[in-house]
Amino acid sequence: MSQFQYRNGDLYCEDVSVANLAERFGTPLWIYSKAFLLGQLQQLQNAFAEVDPVICYSVKANSTLGILRVMHDAGISFDVVSGGELYRVKAAGGDTSKVVFAGVGKTDAEIRFALENNILMFDVESEAELDAIAAVAGSMNVVGPVALRLNPDIDAKTHAKTTTGKKGNKFGMDIERFRELAAKVLRDKRLKLQGIHMHLGSPILTTDPYEAAGQKAIEVVEGLRRDGHEINWLNLGGGFGISYRGQEGLPAEAYAKVIVPAVKAAKCRLALEPGRFIVGNSCVLVSRVVYTKREGGKLFVIQDGAMNDLIRPAMYDSFHRVWPVSSPVAMPDVVEGEIAGCEKTDVVGPVCESSDYFAKDRYLPPMRRDDLMAIFSAGAYGTAMSSNYNSRPRAAEILVDGSDVKVIRRREIYADLIAHELQDWHPSVGSSPAKSADFWLLAPHTGLLEKKDWPTRFTRSAWPVTPIPDDLTVRSMNSVVERRGLFTGRLSMLMRSNPECPVL
Ligand SMILES: Cc1ncc(COP(=O)(O)O)c(C=O)c1O
Repeated sequence: MSQFQYRNGDLYCEDVSVANLAERFGTPLWIYSKAFLLGQLQQLQNAFAEVDPVICYSVKANSTLGILRVMHDAGISFDVVSGGELYRVKAAGGDTSKVVFAGVGKTDAEIRFALENNILMFDVESEAELDAIAAVAGSMNVVGPVALRLNPDIDAKTHAKTTTGKKGNKFGMDIERFRELAAKVLRDKRLKLQGIHMHLGSPILTTDPYEAAGQKAIEVVEGLRRDGHEINWLNLGGGFGISYRGQEGLPAEAYAKVIVPAVKAAKCRLALEPGRFIVGNSCVLVSRVVYTKREGGKLFVIQDGAMNDLIRPAMYDSFHRVWPVSSPVAMPDVVEGEIAGCEKTDVVGPVCESSDYFAKDRYLPPMRRDDLMAIFSAGAYGTAMSSNYNSRPRAAEILVDGSDVKVIRRREIYADLIAHELQDWHPSVGSSPAKSADFWLLAPHTGLLEKKDWPTRFTRSAWPVTPIPDDLTVRSMNSVVERRGLFTGRLSMLMRSNPECPVL
C-alpha cells in the first residue's frame, strides 16, 4: 500500500505533512517512507519464502547510506557494481559475505577490495574479467568465487537503454562462451564456480521473461553438473517492475510463481537483485514552483527541482505522476488524459536543457509561484543518478518513520560544489615541510590511498598529498581508510582539520 496519501487535500508521507517537511528542510526534497521500504521487503520475503532466497538489494537503484541501513537492519544483503558501492555497503554495516558483485568492467583494485571483504561471488561478464579475478585471487592466495553471467537472449521488452538480456548487449555471454569459461574455471585452482547469473533488464512488467530464464537456467545447471561442477546458486538478477502510472506493477507473488518452480527443479539456492521494486515507490521528490510562464501556446510550470535531481524523464522518457502537494482537485487514479478543473501543463526545471522536464502535456490543477509539487515514484535511480549539473547542489533526503523524521543526507551547500577541486590558495606541495618519509596520495575517484616516496614530483595540479593524520589507519597498501574503526569517505575533511596537511 502507498504510504503517500492525501488527507483533506494535503499530501502526507506516513503521519507527516509533506508541506511541513518542505517548509522545514527546503526544496527540492526527497522524502522516503520507511514503512513502504519494509513492506516491499516483507512482500519479497513472503513470496519467495519456500526457497529461502538471499535477497541482494541492488545498491545502484538508491545508494544513500540511510536507505542501505534500513535494508541491512531488515536482514537484506546487497548487489554491487563498483568498489564504491561495496564501500557504501560496509559503511552501512552490511555483511559483505553475502554480497554479489556484477558489472562489465571491474578493475583489479575493485576485485582485490571485494576479495579482501570475502564477498559471496562475482557475476563474471567476460573471459578477460575471469582471467583478472584469477590473477588477483592467485596473488592473494585465495579462491575467487564466481558465477558466470549468461546472456539468455530473452527480450524483456524494456526501454532500449535498460534491456540487458538480449544478444548484442554488452552484458554477460552467450551459452557457447559460457560453457567454455565454465570448463576453464574447472581447470583453475584459483577460481570456484558457484552458480549462474542472469539479469534480463528493467523494469519488467510481465512474468514470461523470468519463466523463460528459469527454464534456461535448469538446462544450463544440469549441463554444468554433468561436467563436474558443484553448482549452488541461481541468481536471476533484478528488474521487477513497479507502478509509475497506475496499477501496472505486479506483486512479488506473480514473479515467484514462475521463478520458484525453476529454482526447485534446478536444486539451487536463489539469489535475487531487486532494486526498483523495493525503493521505487518509497519516495516522492518535492519541488517548489519558481515561475509559471505561457509561451508558444503552452503553459510551463518551472520549479526548483530539475533533471540534475531526477534524470529519468530526460534519460529514459520515463513517466512519473506529478501533482500539487496541496490541491483542491483530488489526484485521480489515472493522471493521463483530460481531468476536470485542470489545464494542460509542462512541468519543467531550471536547467539549461530542453530535456529538463518531469511531465509534458499533463492536466494539472492551476499552480502559482511558491506552490509545492510532488513527483511520485522517485526512489529508484533518482538520487543515485543525480548530479551537480549546472552547479546545482544536491537536494536533502528525509526518511519518515511514522511521525518520526530523519535527515539521511543533508542538503549540499555551494562550498560542497568546489570542495574536491584545486583552489588557488593551496600552497604548492614542493614547498611543504616534510615531517615523515611516508606520504600518501589520495586517488581522486576511488578514495584509496597510495604510498609514495617523499620528496615527490607531484605538483599542485596532481593529486592531493598529505602525511597520514595520527588517528587515520591505512589498513594496507591500496586498501580503504579507517578512522577510529569507521570507514570514512570524508578524507578531505580530515586533511583540512590537520594543521600538518600541506594540501587539501
Ligand atoms: C545486474 C543487475 N542486477 C540488478 C539490477 C536492478 O534492477 P532493478 O532496479 O530493476 O530491480 C540491475 C539494474 O540495472 C542490474 O544491472
